[in-house]
Amino acid sequence: MNLSYIINRLGEDNENYYNAVAPPIIQTSNFSYKTVSDLRLAINDEKNNLIYSRGNNPTLDILVKKLAALEKAEDAIVFASGMAAISTAIIANVAAGDHVICVQKPYSWTNKLLSSLLPRFGVECSFINGGEISNYQQSLKPNTKLIYLESPNTFTFELQDLKAVAAFAKQNNLITIIDNSYSTPLFQNPIEFGIDIVVHSATKYIGGHSDTVAGFLCSSKEIVERIFKNEFLTFGGIISPFNAWLLLRGLRTLPIRMEKIAKTTSIVINFLENHPKIEKVIYPFSRDFPQLELAEFQMKCGSGMLTVLLKTNEIPKIESFCNALKCFYIAVSWGGYESLVFPVCSFVNDKEESPIPFNLVRFSIGLEEPEELIQDIENALKVL
Ligand SMILES: Cc1ncc(COP(=O)(O)O)c(C=O)c1O
Repeated sequence: MNLSYIINRLGEDNENYYNAVAPPIIQTSNFSYKTVSDLRLAINDEKNNLIYSRGNNPTLDILVKKLAALEKAEDAIVFASGMAAISTAIIANVAAGDHVICVQKPYSWTNKLLSSLLPRFGVECSFINGGEISNYQQSLKPNTKLIYLESPNTFTFELQDLKAVAAFAKQNNLITIIDNSYSTPLFQNPIEFGIDIVVHSATKYIGGHSDTVAGFLCSSKEIVERIFKNEFLTFGGIISPFNAWLLLRGLRTLPIRMEKIAKTTSIVINFLENHPKIEKVIYPFSRDFPQLELAEFQMKCGSGMLTVLLKTNEIPKIESFCNALKCFYIAVSWGGYESLVFPVCSFVNDKEESPIPFNLVRFSIGLEEPEELIQDIENALKVL
């Protein structure tokens, strides 16, 4: 299916809603039936019927079709946040007594789920350097059920070899889940490499306008149906029809936003790599990135996040640099139209204990012109 068809047409049925070109927001909690027997039939197959908006809703259905097709998956479920999608996908595949293998340094709240919440329910987790395939073998236990990946992660961008990990998981009968938020479905499709479940924070590039918190998972029909009927309907982490509609609107411009962002990012990186006050730039498509070859094999392109190591270890100087930026908001999150800066020292209290070096500064590049961003960084670097 071609990209513009998926984004502009798939799942839409304009004749059903007055030939409006923009899909409607069906803001309803439930749906009525003419007869009891019609309702009974629908309840027996809730996945494929409109009964109650904690399950299905027509605005969401359009979005689900598009997201599944973009990830080259059979089906999808949309959630109120990326973390709702991640928690649901993980919990749906473990039980008390199970063991999970997770990459080091996953997104902080994924880490919290695996390192402190799930152990309360008897699920243990080993965190490994996921770049080495032998580490999966070494941490495999008889009760291992799941491998959780994030490739690349969103601070230091380490990758995992998706094809090799998926093959290892299949041999050992393990489910694989990957957080693919960084790449978007446009720049990496993990299902093509054999990964079972792909999760996303749609708050980032998919929404793209920093006005919606949302998430989704994509997988086979069988896995999606199992999660839908059990964990999804039970936990109730649903997105509102209005927020689903905002994601539909965000999707219309995803390809042009990603193209512009990737181009601007490479221009900004070129400037940073040649600046005397920058020690290092970390980006999966940088010439000196240790896993560049793997990045080129499994990703189409790098997106708009990059991290720099300034030539200083002094936190007040790092803070002054960030405070001096005018075109970058100081903020968490990423993937919107606006450029952001997020220094690790804003959330690390103990420099020695932090798994991420405290002196890194992460940028999320938005839709501004590259010259404007470069000028701004150049001015701010003068404070060092
Ligand atoms: C890599 C990554 N995954 C997942 C999430 C969670 O997404 P959400 O904030 O939509 O719950 C985030 C949020 O920052 C993230 O950066």
